[in-house]
Amino acid sequence: MNRLYTLGVLLIGLAGAFAAAPLAVAQPSPAFIAKREAFIDQLMKRMTVQEKIGQLRLRSLEAGAHPDRAGFEKEISDGRVGGIFNTVVRPDIRVLQEAAMRSRLKIPLFFSFDVIHGQRTLFPVGLGLASTWDLDAVHTMGRISAIEASADGLNLTYSPMVDISRDPRWGRNSEGFGEDTYLTSRIGAALVKAYQGDDPSQPGHIMATVKHFALYGAVEGGRDYNTVDMSPQRMYQDYFPPYKAAIDAGAAAVMIALNSVNGEPATSDKWLLQDVLRKEWGFKGITISDHGAIMELIKHGVAADGEDAARKAVQAGTDMSMSDTIYGTNLMPLLKSGKIGMADIDRACRDVLRVKYDLGLFKDPYRNIGTAADDLPDSFAESRLHRPAAREVARESLVLLKNQGSVLPLKKAGTIALVGPLADDQVDMMGNWAGAGRASQTITLRQGIQNIVGGKVRLIYAKGSDITDDPDMVKYLNLYKNDVQVDGRSEADMVKEAVDAARQADVIVAAVGESQGMAHEASSRSDITIPPVQERLLKALKATGKPLIIVLMNGRPLALPWEAENADAMLETWFSGTEGGNAIADVLFGDMNPSGKLPVTFPRAVGQIPLYYNHLPTGRPFDPAHPDKYTSRYFDITNGPLYPFGYGLSYTNFSVSDIKLSAPTMKAGGMLKASVTVTNTGDREGATVVQLYLNQPVASISRPVQELRGFRRIDLKPGQSREVSFDITDDDLAFYNQQIKRVVEPGKFNVYVGLDSASVKATNFYRL
Ligand code: BGC
Repeated sequence: MNRLYTLGVLLIGLAGAFAAAPLAVAQPSPAFIAKREAFIDQLMKRMTVQEKIGQLRLRSLEAGAHPDRAGFEKEISDGRVGGIFNTVVRPDIRVLQEAAMRSRLKIPLFFSFDVIHGQRTLFPVGLGLASTWDLDAVHTMGRISAIEASADGLNLTYSPMVDISRDPRWGRNSEGFGEDTYLTSRIGAALVKAYQGDDPSQPGHIMATVKHFALYGAVEGGRDYNTVDMSPQRMYQDYFPPYKAAIDAGAAAVMIALNSVNGEPATSDKWLLQDVLRKEWGFKGITISDHGAIMELIKHGVAADGEDAARKAVQAGTDMSMSDTIYGTNLMPLLKSGKIGMADIDRACRDVLRVKYDLGLFKDPYRNIGTAADDLPDSFAESRLHRPAAREVARESLVLLKNQGSVLPLKKAGTIALVGPLADDQVDMMGNWAGAGRASQTITLRQGIQNIVGGKVRLIYAKGSDITDDPDMVKYLNLYKNDVQVDGRSEADMVKEAVDAARQADVIVAAVGESQGMAHEASSRSDITIPPVQERLLKALKATGKPLIIVLMNGRPLALPWEAENADAMLETWFSGTEGGNAIADVLFGDMNPSGKLPVTFPRAVGQIPLYYNHLPTGRPFDPAHPDKYTSRYFDITNGPLYPFGYGLSYTNFSVSDIKLSAPTMKAGGMLKASVTVTNTGDREGATVVQLYLNQPVASISRPVQELRGFRRIDLKPGQSREVSFDITDDDLAFYNQQIKRVVEPGKFNVYVGLDSASVKATNFYRL
């Protein structure tokens, strides 16, 4: 990342009430806290029970979508709403805040939205952002999201989403940062800091909501909203840390997961919401239910009716109810009948008021809204976009999976056949959860290629196929929005056009994969290949004998055995956002040397799932060098991943030296340095990511065969070498034992360093 750019554009505002400690999250000062609590005490004394309950209600309002607009505003001016989501432009937000200012106590609303990978300018989806392994890039996305969202009048985003997932069938893989605990924790924490800064009430900042607490990414079978059943070790060791890292970074809000955890829905799980979140982790912000989740306690089978559901949720510690009427309708009768106490409501209400106070809304309810005179004439104005930064981040997010015979980068000359349903598709390039972005402002691959080599290359475009030829699938994907367009021509006609284009060209670039809606909420797939109609297109293109370059767009790891075998080159681009087409073209033509690394394992087939790099050893491990029958394996497929975690090629080559350790042993509480020298042995400048993995071969319980414990992105000129060192401390060696105690057990530790998880240098040391 160009650091100067990052700093120049993004530094806004310094701490006010919040005193920043170096390298630590800024904590509110004791004086600030005392003042805030006194203010809230006074306010709560004046509030009626109904007004307190009102604060616990989070209502959705999409532009122009409410059937009873006047009634909606009256609810607000009656003090029966605490926050709004899905209203995203200042004039609309102002009207709602004005309604709140007509209420008896003038308690301001806060305004929230799913700003997941950008607000107006879209950055790569979560998996793409994670593929950069670049915390500066993460910071850039977070800052620009906050700047654009706060300029739209928003106060809070429902991001970061840090659900670890080891199941590519789950559609929400695209939103998260992959399968690894350490990488996800670092990215989640960096995003929180970028959104909130040291003081979220400062201009250009918004509050963060870490979600979905907890374990949503572990839904059984990768089927959305399904059950989660998990051992405490795995929970504490692998799935909890990213939520905790975001909270330690200061996340003001937590969104509660829709799933149950070991039989108890998260929304009614006192252990999760109070014991773990508040007592163990010291969380002080608000908890927000997911959409309609309190009502869903009935269907989960833990509540008899709405009243029961509201009681369970509020008593468990669910502060705000998102988009259902259940708190509004049931909390008062529950209080009157003595089934809940005033303390249950007061506690939740205080959490909400505290967040509003921290946001500075009591000082200025129009903090991000301004006056009508300040309104932008056009919220979608091109001038609002941060295109150079989006292009830079997107370029870093692209992962080169294959490059046989160095077919890439392409020459800026000759004829190129550009084919595939995703080659000229603005909606899918944006990715899902596209904030308030606009498809018409998104650069497709076709436009990107034109922008870069328009005058020099003859580009023949042919769509070649639809995303899918399954009408039921199209119907499903278009249920709420008409995102998937069906061409209308026959498959044969479309393939013929593409093959004709290929025959005239020197090289084929085929943009294939999933539509953004195929890797989204409620978009679990039982088959994770490229849809068959696109595979048939690829096979027809391959038959022309022309070099075939596959540009993948997708939101989950895909099973790509045919493509991996038959493509000459393959570039994973995820859904890369507003500047996606330019960024991909930069890499295809060598203006940018690819440096992305996979944050997820790519399996060979859906039947291998779950397949993740940091698995536990078994008693009968499979050894490809000695493939015995009675070992842990599948006998009908090559074992192991198609592409391992951390993998990604470059147009240059790097070598990694043997690992040097600063000492052969480490004392309790000590520190050890592991260093390697990385050399660019090729003839192009390039960046790569040096990865540190650790393993404890003998411990009181089985420990993963390797676990990421550090990474460093470095840039090297041809012939240049750099030493990269990692500090290893007890924190990197600790794990949760059978009693769920975080311990360091003395003994041998293996150290692995490499440029992906599968090809590493190894050494070891002893922790005394
Ligand atoms: C999703 C959340 C999202 C919320 C509000 C839910 O369906 O699970 O991730 O933040 O909607 O849009």
